[in-house]
This record gives sequence, C-alpha cells and structure tokens, in this order.
Amino acid sequence: MSAADFLFLPPVIAHRGVRSQAPENTLAAFKKAREEGILWIETDIKLTHDGVPVLMHDDTLDRTTSGKGPVADMHWAEMGKLDAGSWFNPSFAEERVPLLAEALRYTLDNNMRINLELKPCPGRTQATVMVTLIEAAKIWPHDYPPPLISSFDTEALVIASRLHPDWPRGLLLDDWHDDWRDRLSKANADSIHMKADVLSAERMHQFVKAEVPVLAYTVNDPLRAKELLHWGVRAVFSDNPKEIAKAL
Ligand code: G3P
Ligand code: MG
Repeated sequence: MSAADFLFLPPVIAHRGVRSQAPENTLAAFKKAREEGILWIETDIKLTHDGVPVLMHDDTLDRTTSGKGPVADMHWAEMGKLDAGSWFNPSFAEERVPLLAEALRYTLDNNMRINLELKPCPGRTQATVMVTLIEAAKIWPHDYPPPLISSFDTEALVIASRLHPDWPRGLLLDDWHDDWRDRLSKANADSIHMKADVLSAERMHQFVKAEVPVLAYTVNDPLRAKELLHWGVRAVFSDNPKEIAKAL
C-alpha cells in the first residue's frame, strides 16, 4: 500500500490537528478536525523518558506545555499531569499531552484517518519507531485503512518498513534535493512529504512522471493549495484545513 491508494477527500490534512483553532497535538485539536469535516490528521510522536509514546512536536516541553526541559527527560507519570492547552488559550487549560493510544482510539472511533510522524528525540530513533508501531498495531484493526507513517529520519522509516511492510511510509523533506530518488529508495518509503515552499511546477512534474505520490506542508493559503493540487500534489497539510477545503 502507498499514499497513492488513499482517498484524500477533501485533499487536506489537519496539521497537528486544527492548530489554528486549538492547541496543537491535543485531543481538542483532533475534535476540531472532526467538527470541521476534515478526515485526515497529522500528528508528531515522541517517547517520554520511560518509553511511553505521546503526541509532541518539539524536543522540549516549554513551548506547548506547562513543563520545562527535554521531553526525553520526563516520565509519563509527570508529563501526563502537564497543562498542554493554556499556552494557546486559558479555555484549553484542561488539555493534557495525549498518549498515542488515545489519539489512535479517537481516530478509529470517529472513522477518521491518521498520519503518524515519527519525530524521535536525539538518539532515540529505534525505540521510538518500535514502540510506536508495536503499540499502534495492537490497537489498529486489520480491516481498517492503516496509519500513514512518515518521518524526516531515514533510519526510522527503514525500521518501520521492516516492522510493517504493508503500512505506507512517507519521507519528509524540508528542502529540494536533486537526488530525491536515492533518498526515497534508501528510506524504503513510497511517498514524499515535501515542504511546499520549495515546490515548483517543474519539480512536481518530476514526481508525477515518476509516479511518486507527493503531499505538501504547510499550506495555509487556499490559492497556493489549489495550485499545488493542480500540479498533482495529493493533499496538503494545513493549520486551517476548513478554509482550504471550502475554497477547493
Ligand atoms: O508532516 C508534515 C509536517 O508536520 C512536518 O513538519 O515540523 O510540522 O512536524 P513539522
Ligand atoms: Mg509534523
């Protein structure tokens, strides 16, 4: 299976949930996506110090929680108590750092789709991939479309391909590289998730010709989204997915 087999309808993925309306990577941000009729959610996965997979973008807790310091230094017992919403707005003070398991159950219960971006803290690639995929496989029904796995980390994708060859994998790239074919093949991935700013019609044409599915991040301008989709991008990651979907 590859990202090409998914129906992205609408072709918009809520980036860290709907992070323009709720604190990123919280269940409140997932709920916004459901309320707005957005089927797909992208979220970032890291491990706590004691190896519990959680939703978290940064290597440190400071920006998006009431905690401080590296995510990799805190046990789940402590992290689970942090306020993950007040930084965004005091009305979200009850939000906690979600467990991967909670995010997956929310996705399944609401008949949604999920892109798990493996974002290992430094030196924790193997553990992050293994724990995440083993835990996800325990929860995920065999007859439900699998999660889309992605990472900037080539090693993470290779490990994921060994654990779950049938789960689609996307290589994240934050810049243009002429050797993208080699990078894709070294990562054992089937799609490219490309920073939108560096995409052009000519570059997209290379991917389309090679039949490599491309997703583009982060696109908040509806006109730019239309252009990218017109060039053949399968879906865009957006902080305001409803606005994008409405304009298409
Ligand atoms: O997966 C797309 C996008 O989320 C990658 O960048 O930093 O927002 O995780 P970042
Ligand atoms: Mg991400």
